[in-house]
Amino acid sequence: MDRRRFISTGTVLAAGFSILPSSVVFGRNMDKVRLGYIGVGLRGNSHIQEGLLRDDVEIVAICDTQERSLAATRARIKKHGAPMPKEYTGSDDAYKAMLDRKDIDAVIIATPWQFHKQMAIDAMKAGKYVGCEVIAGLSLEDHWDIVKTHEATGVPYMTLENVCYRRDVMAVLNMQRQGLFGEMIHLEGGYQHNLRGVLFTDANGGTGPLYGPQAFSEAQWRTEFNIKRNGDIYPTHGVGPLMHYADINYGNRFTNLVSFASKSRGLNTYIEEIAPGNEAAKINYKNGDVITTMINCANGETVLLSHDTHLPRPYSLGFRVQGTKGLWMDVANSIYIEKQSKNDDEWDNEDSWLTKYDHPLWVKYNKMAEGAGHGGMDWFVFHAFVESVKRKVQTPIDVYDSVTMSAITPLSEKSIAEGNMPQQFPDFTKGKWKTRVSKFALGDDY
Ligand SMILES: NC(=O)c1ccc[n+]([C@@H]2O[C@H](COP(=O)([O-])OP(=O)(O)OC[C@H]3O[C@@H](n4cnc5c(N)ncnc54)[C@H](O)[C@@H]3O)[C@@H](O)[C@H]2O)c1
Repeated sequence: MDRRRFISTGTVLAAGFSILPSSVVFGRNMDKVRLGYIGVGLRGNSHIQEGLLRDDVEIVAICDTQERSLAATRARIKKHGAPMPKEYTGSDDAYKAMLDRKDIDAVIIATPWQFHKQMAIDAMKAGKYVGCEVIAGLSLEDHWDIVKTHEATGVPYMTLENVCYRRDVMAVLNMQRQGLFGEMIHLEGGYQHNLRGVLFTDANGGTGPLYGPQAFSEAQWRTEFNIKRNGDIYPTHGVGPLMHYADINYGNRFTNLVSFASKSRGLNTYIEEIAPGNEAAKINYKNGDVITTMINCANGETVLLSHDTHLPRPYSLGFRVQGTKGLWMDVANSIYIEKQSKNDDEWDNEDSWLTKYDHPLWVKYNKMAEGAGHGGMDWFVFHAFVESVKRKVQTPIDVYDSVTMSAITPLSEKSIAEGNMPQQFPDFTKGKWKTRVSKFALGDDY
């Protein structure tokens, strides 16, 4: 299938999806989603590219406070030959004027984390679907405020957690749903990615010791979090997929959590290596090099999460999905299923299993996802969001799932600050987790 020409039959509803009140999205053509983008830096631009490649998306407006990001977006849109969107800029609140427009159905928020909560709340109040780049808010209260606004307005909110759509992650979900691993017992995952060259750059994104306004992209703002916060500050890529394996918020829930922080040496060592004597090498980085969080689930499973972004290491999200009949471990590309693997107590290479159990959505859409970011998963998450808006239905990762993933940050921070004390996990669903039915990757189209 050709990505550009893709227009799905916007009126067909997948089983289990509910239609929202008509007040949620104002009079509009259901074949096309009119998008506004808040934040068009590196991540926002990746979603701009996805939007440009679809005939069912119109990029109506973009908002950013930096000319560099706006210029890069303009150049991308021009190269594509698409109409130029209206621009909003000039202040941190410029997005509010964009939200006043009646011709925007949904917004994609890809700004620094400290802005997400307010932007999302304002967007929901303006009746725009929210797709937010992964961190919902900073404090626990922020997460409750998002839930309350969603409940008051009825407007859907989706964390655009792309790893949930990674091909191996979805094949393993397909296996889990078919019972191959038996009953779920223990899950592991995390964000294990050497970000030193992202947290410090030169002015143009090359190697350098800069952070703050003079630096590039995430080094302008993200490094501050590593300086000031000791906790798992980026939990969603690891925990998002694990929540689906454990049916969290759908018959199961996280009950409590405890976090540990190692000492912090990685960023100091790195700066001393690339820029000896630089001030950044002397900073007392509060964020431990490896943050380890354990979470209990109501149905008895345990979840182990890791945040590990300051040390030299190959990328791996370190997934382990283990049940009464077998397990998957992504770092070793290994699957073992009792009585089905080739040899007793010996790993099979995961490839044959993942090919056999490729998720139906990947079987259907793999050609469309070719070339999209992060091995194609970026196409899927964008597609799921756009399709939900077109159909006026809840998003497959909804507001409760979104805040559950993201609230791990303030909870882990509090646990560490209190000397590794357990923290009760809030039940954002207020008991609805017992009867909620998952919509994630269960439809024919998304
Ligand atoms: N899902 C993923 O794989 C993935 C990958 C990268 C980044 N992200 C997330 O995407 C978000 C953006 O990250 P990024 O890498 O694009 O960072 P970035 O620094 O490249 O882009 C952020 C943009 O937001 C703009 N901005 C800042 N304040 C603003 C405001 N008040 N109003 C409008 N625009 C504002 C900046 O000028 C910049 O252009 C973050 O939340 C990040 O965690 C997710």
